[in-house]
Amino acid sequence: MRTRLPTCVRAAFGLLCALLLGSALAADVPPLPADRDARFLGVDTCGSSECHGSAEPWRNATVLMRERRIWDAHDSHAKAYASLGSDAGQRIAKNLGLADATQAPECLVCHSTYVPAAQRGPKFRLDAGVGCESCHGPGGSFLRAHVQVTSRHQTNIAAGMFPTTNPEARAALCLSCHQGDATRRITHRIYGAGHPRLRFELDTYSVNQPYHFNPDADYRRRKPTASHFQLWAAGQLRAARALLTQVGDPKQASAGIFPELAQYDCHACHQAIGDDPGYKPRPGLRAGAPTLIDAPLVALRGLTAVVDPALTDRLRDETRTLQLALNDPAKRAAAIAALNRTLAALDASLRARAEQAGDGRHVARALNAMVAAERPLPFTAAEGAAMSLSTLLLAEHEAGRFADGDYVRVNKALDAVYAALGDERTYRPAALADAVAALDQELAQ
Ligand code: HEC
Ligand code: HEC
Ligand code: HEC
Ligand code: HEC
Repeated sequence: MRTRLPTCVRAAFGLLCALLLGSALAADVPPLPADRDARFLGVDTCGSSECHGSAEPWRNATVLMRERRIWDAHDSHAKAYASLGSDAGQRIAKNLGLADATQAPECLVCHSTYVPAAQRGPKFRLDAGVGCESCHGPGGSFLRAHVQVTSRHQTNIAAGMFPTTNPEARAALCLSCHQGDATRRITHRIYGAGHPRLRFELDTYSVNQPYHFNPDADYRRRKPTASHFQLWAAGQLRAARALLTQVGDPKQASAGIFPELAQYDCHACHQAIGDDPGYKPRPGLRAGAPTLIDAPLVALRGLTAVVDPALTDRLRDETRTLQLALNDPAKRAAAIAALNRTLAALDASLRARAEQAGDGRHVARALNAMVAAERPLPFTAAEGAAMSLSTLLLAEHEAGRFADGDYVRVNKALDAVYAALGDERTYRPAALADAVAALDQELAQ
């Protein structure tokens, strides 16, 4: 839960608060950029050719200064607004009865830097898509301090820049659009209208964005730099907490008199009746009852097994209790509270412990064991496990913890996991479990 002092709210996770409260506040996340009430100056301000849109790297500059060019050319956030006007965007809008997706707040909240008109500076343009200030915070709050020669990462943060370097804050930021939250809502109606199903893994998506910064030795000297493993863990923890909030908040949990099905396992309903003669319900759950998408809660059992083993069965049992209590508001609230306590305990254990060489491999192996035990794994949890396995093992490889030949074999086995996962239509749980068992054999050597 958040612990926040009033002065900290104003200083927006300021330097002062960080110094005063130290790591006690490390888990806290300041208000997200788009929820701030400062002025947004637009991509043309941050990314002008004199600033972060320079054609050439600056001499003596520590940062690239061509971030805008990378974003323009390679980052799909730059096309996010254009997607609303595309054939696919307009088809979704038409199915929802919206006149024009490029004007619809229910789309713009995620596909642009959507802030009230009064907060938009003269160079701000909504059609720039998900711009710099969607992630780095409103320029109006920090630009003056930022352009001083004395400007440093900590002084920028103190002036109101969003702490994208902090794994928890970054996870909250990305997931606000990639999983949705109270302000940015993805609904089963939007899915039904043809929107791609949202999925996310923080480290993979951070790399795929792609980076417009160079995390070299100089960068690590200037800024706190999270490892791939820390980003993965922070992303799963945040996704799990966000899921519990979505299910527990009456406004997000329901669509009129029905539950909000965007949070539910799609295949509970979307499969041909009698399709699979070997069908059985998931361990501990009831046949024929819709269940939540619990992918992050499943993935975190790989983490607990390494970081705090006593929490592994607790997490499994409490997740099942929640799955069985979805229709009973009092029991559901109690199950959510219990899970939040377990996640807080996991978070505390994770912080109390320094990352150790081989953590990624050990968590991957614990995930493999979980996949073997939790059959049949629904598609969304299997997809989450596959993304986790590839992130964790690639990070181990980058840290030089595999002999070259070993990683070639591990990578082949990972390819086979993805092939067995397939997509929503072709997924067969037994094939995935076999591929994961084969991967585990490689890791056991
Ligand atoms: C304001 C909402 C918003 C925030 C915040 C946000 N994204 Fe996105 N992201 C989007 C939208 C919308 C798209 C789809 C863009 C399109 O193609 O239309 C997207 C697309 C992506 C893609 C491309 C996915 C693909 O399949 O091609 C990646 C990777 C990505 N985001 C990573 C991130 C990361 C990492 C963060 C946090 C640092 C983040 N996003 C924060 C809205 C957001
Ligand atoms: C909760 C945030 C959110 C909301 C609300 C939202 N989107 Fe998206 N949308 C995304 C993200 C994130 C992606 C990228 C998904 C990925 O690839 O992982 C995306 C992808 C898309 C794409 C596919 C883009 C491509 O080129 O692949 C279209 C089209 C789209 N959205 C249209 C819409 C429309 C129209 C609305 C309003 C009815 C809308 N979206 C509402 C977050 C959102
Ligand atoms: C989807 C979120 C997102 C968007 C959009 C985005 N950034 Fe970033 N940016 C990040 C993340 C995450 C990092 C890495 C963490 C950090 O260094 O703060 C980063 C890092 C940076 C850095 C630090 C480089 C360094 O070496 O210290 C600069 C400068 C930067 N971004 C500028 C921009 C500019 C300019 C734009 C717009 C053209 C932009 N960013 C758009 C998320 C984003
Ligand atoms: C509790 C049952 C249930 C769950 C869970 C559920 N849906 Fe649906 N879905 C429906 C119903 C009912 C319809 C309307 C059927 C129709 O239009 O013929 C529908 C329609 C759709 C459609 C449009 C019609 C189609 O078949 O293409 C899409 C797309 C869709 N759902 C996607 C999803 C996704 C993605 C998820 C998981 C995040 C999901 N649904 C979860 C019951 C469900």
